Amino acid sequence: MSDSPRLVTCGLPYTNGSCHLGHLRTYVPADMYVRYLRHRGEEVVFICGSDNHGTPIVVSAEALGTTPAELSRRYHEHFDTTFRRMGVRFDHFGMTDGPTNHRRTQAIVSALEEKGHIYMERIQQSYCPKCQRFLPDRYVMGLCPHCGAEARGDECDQGCGKHLEPGEIRAPVCTVCSTPAELREQEHYFFRLSTFAPFLVEHLEHLKGTANARNYAQGWVREGLRDWCITRTLEWGVRYPGRDDLVVYVWVDAPIGYISFTEEWAAEHGVDWKRYWCGDTEVTHFIGGDITYHHCIFWPALLKGAGYGLPTAVVASGMLKVDDHKFSKSRGYVVWTNEDYLDLGLPADCLRYYLLAYTSHTKELNFSWRAFADRVNNELVNTFGNFVHRSLHFAHTQFGGVPAVPARDEVLAEIRQTMAAIDTAMNEYEFKTAVDAVLGLAASGNTLIQSNAPWKLIKTDRDAAAQVIADALQIVRALAILIDPVMPETAGRIWGMLGLPDPIADEGLEGCTAPLAPGPLAMPTPLFSRIEEKRVTELDALLTARVAEAESRACSAPSGDAPLTIDEFSRMELVVGRVLQAEPIKKSKKLLRLVVDVGTEERQIVSGIAGHYTPGELVGTDVIVIANLAPAVLFGIESRGMILAAGDEASLLVPMRPVAPGTRVR
Ligand code: MF3
Ligand code: ZN
Repeated sequence: MSDSPRLVTCGLPYTNGSCHLGHLRTYVPADMYVRYLRHRGEEVVFICGSDNHGTPIVVSAEALGTTPAELSRRYHEHFDTTFRRMGVRFDHFGMTDGPTNHRRTQAIVSALEEKGHIYMERIQQSYCPKCQRFLPDRYVMGLCPHCGAEARGDECDQGCGKHLEPGEIRAPVCTVCSTPAELREQEHYFFRLSTFAPFLVEHLEHLKGTANARNYAQGWVREGLRDWCITRTLEWGVRYPGRDDLVVYVWVDAPIGYISFTEEWAAEHGVDWKRYWCGDTEVTHFIGGDITYHHCIFWPALLKGAGYGLPTAVVASGMLKVDDHKFSKSRGYVVWTNEDYLDLGLPADCLRYYLLAYTSHTKELNFSWRAFADRVNNELVNTFGNFVHRSLHFAHTQFGGVPAVPARDEVLAEIRQTMAAIDTAMNEYEFKTAVDAVLGLAASGNTLIQSNAPWKLIKTDRDAAAQVIADALQIVRALAILIDPVMPETAGRIWGMLGLPDPIADEGLEGCTAPLAPGPLAMPTPLFSRIEEKRVTELDALLTARVAEAESRACSAPSGDAPLTIDEFSRMELVVGRVLQAEPIKKSKKLLRLVVDVGTEERQIVSGIAGHYTPGELVGTDVIVIANLAPAVLFGIESRGMILAAGDEASLLVPMRPVAPGTRVR
């Protein structure tokens, strides 16, 4: 560890949507980590803020009939409040559209220019002839040049996940009006990322944090780095120095927000921000796994190029699923932090616990209300809450408080063992292992009480019973401190019930084994309540309803707000087919069974054209077939495809000139 003060950051949420479980999967562990470091006696500044620039926010604002600035202000407040409600306590929560960040971004870009890391080039960029504007990033959709999946202008979000440079996307279409885009030449500025490859190889070798981030980044450097276009034709953003027509790309000014927000915090606290960002630094970034490229490639290269200190660690969280489905806001597989959780009166601490205890930080987390309820009921209510409650309750009722006996050495030894296990786990960013160790200590406290049965013991040997309770209370004291990073609100309550002075956050880890002063204790109150079966059903119903609603929205909007993309169209395999056989189907007036040559094979297709054609006139006809339609069984006959026809008379669509069966329709 260096002598520099520590800084921990979290990826900045975009201000065009509400806080959900996906956000929390990064913010809660980061908050736990910071709280733990503080108990360990380290000085840490915990920085975050909102990410206000970029096309998604401009597009959302336009759709809502508001301005990007107003939308950002609204969601900035929203995130600030929601994080507080979840106990995620940043020292400062800034805005990338604030003056500090505009200034810092321009200073960094100017420094990069001065040092020769930026050049200007005329490039071909997507332009919409109808909207009469250039189409940066999400203003354009098309196909990924790497994997062919449908992609947004700046990212192959559905396919290979690669970052796309302006002009790279294939078959570009304007997202506003669906007009195919043209290419037009325009001046842009490029960061010489390719020259940073040797530096990155070295940097990544020493980068701490989770292995997933490091490994991906090393792979990308090996594949080769291309220079990076850092300007966009947009109104909203940080002006590129000396250019009225360009702003910097959002992925330049957003991470610079980490620095700007540190400056803002430092100014308020009368300290020098340079201690955190210049020279030897100790910066840990918590991010979602999907923005690893930006944090492990772009960002360190920018910092290096501009002469700033480098990140020490990048901690990347794993994927999130909801009910076994890929997390998706548009498909309804989402849990909103306020609407679906906090506003229903569910405690922030239980969700924090669940997110941390579910699995390793880098693995997939599959959320379900059922699993959530099981863990709360079994682990928090039955194990942790039960132990704390019965210990305090027995102490209160039988001894009026903390008995005047110190805890036995073996109990102190067990607490120390738990602390060591937690410390190792935290150094490895294995938050689940740390949480499990705390719960293990609570379980062992339960065993201590169960096997000694102090309620019996007190009738025969009051001193022995006092010893059991003194041991149990020592464990309660340790549990309060050790669980504080995970469940701060609960920890504060335990601390209060032990009659100890606020705030528990100031307590060092050594307080776990410090003796409890003998004295009175009030009657304890239970820490957690069970999540009843009825509640699980209700919560599940809410999720099911949201998914159903999303599905019906998707089905009823083929022509309106979601134009068919070229990619969607090209997924449909339309081919020329020659009818080889045709025969009626028994008991059906409408259907014919056809055998059609589709080039690669002969297909059996059931078609509803019996009322309009005789089998004889169909044989030998070339028709158009949808070849990749999901198979269906009609009157017991499997149909693998569909013949295209138009109108009430089922006029068949046929090729005007002869083409071979199997020819693709385009
Ligand atoms: N807003 C970005 C996202 O949600 C994250 C920005 S993180 C920063 O993907 F590093 F750029 F700040
Ligand atoms: Zn792709």
